[in-house]
Amino acid sequence: MERGEAEAKMLEFIKKLPDEIREALDFDVPAFDFSEIAHVVFAGMGGSAISGDLAKLHLSEVPIPMESVRDYTLPPYVSEKTLVFVSSYSGNTEEALAAYGDARERGAKLVAVTSDGKLAEMAERDGVPLVRIPGGLPPRTALGWLFVPLVKVFEVSGMVQGKLVELERVADYLTELRDEFSTPDSPPFELASRLYLRLPLIYTSRRLAPVGFRWKAQINENAKAFAHVAELPELDHNEITGIKNPPERVEEMWAVFLVDADDHPRIKLRVKHTQELIRDSVLGTEVLESKGETPIERAFYLVYFGDFVSFYLAKFYFEDPIAIPRIDELKKRLANEQ
Ligand code: F6R
Repeated sequence: MERGEAEAKMLEFIKKLPDEIREALDFDVPAFDFSEIAHVVFAGMGGSAISGDLAKLHLSEVPIPMESVRDYTLPPYVSEKTLVFVSSYSGNTEEALAAYGDARERGAKLVAVTSDGKLAEMAERDGVPLVRIPGGLPPRTALGWLFVPLVKVFEVSGMVQGKLVELERVADYLTELRDEFSTPDSPPFELASRLYLRLPLIYTSRRLAPVGFRWKAQINENAKAFAHVAELPELDHNEITGIKNPPERVEEMWAVFLVDADDHPRIKLRVKHTQELIRDSVLGTEVLESKGETPIERAFYLVYFGDFVSFYLAKFYFEDPIAIPRIDELKKRLANEQ
């Protein structure tokens, strides 16, 4: 695929996010008796894993410990009292498949979310509830399809109410934003032009860390560019001192603080002082405030903003935003060494 064509396709895929959210609200998902569930694990990698992080954020009032696991094996507490979601868009990611096997061995309750591949095969073979989502996209652009079913399981099981209606509103809100964000000179375009040829530092509160991580991953994969992510308050106890050497590199850094109205008041204060203290060492700092009515609307405002930033950065670097040759090559090499 030519770069120009890939660019047009990626823009189309990014713009699809609100449509995916709406479509996924109609997907069939299994219900569970949560009185038998003591913990929830979201297992998966990369573009599939972020759906679990965002589900955790949207379900933050559910009084059950939830953890995202980006690894081959699951934590020691996983047992028949654990609900494990295994998400892999392709259905062939080896870490996700290993996590599935681990969950089965420990008798955990399982849900598989995938478009195809070995995960779909194994779930069908084992009688594990399978949410089969549409295929054909780069996994990182299938976020709506991957994310909504996770939340829907909690809602159809009676663990939460109104969370899907909130997602309908998220879809409406992103639909409003997408035309604005698709134009050159839009706020994401402007921010991408400030990050171009610089080293982006993405800083968030702990609560919004999934959003920061999505920014980093999207910049990495779409723009083939370096990005670093860290969270407050922790970075104020270490990284703040490290933003100094080597000076030639640090002078090329541009820090973006992603902030939200719901951030703890002390975090808001930390954003102000941290910026002041690093400002002389880095090339620039800025604050990007989320917009929207509900917490999940505001989180998705930032996710969507970042998706467009990564798209524009790819354009500036003349990179094909769809191709991820190193990831593909690595998967191929590992598949050849079983
Ligand atoms: C590719 C992408 C990657 C994949 C990851 C896992 O668009 O975003 O981060 O998501 O390599 O693959 P899947 O999602 O197929 O399990």
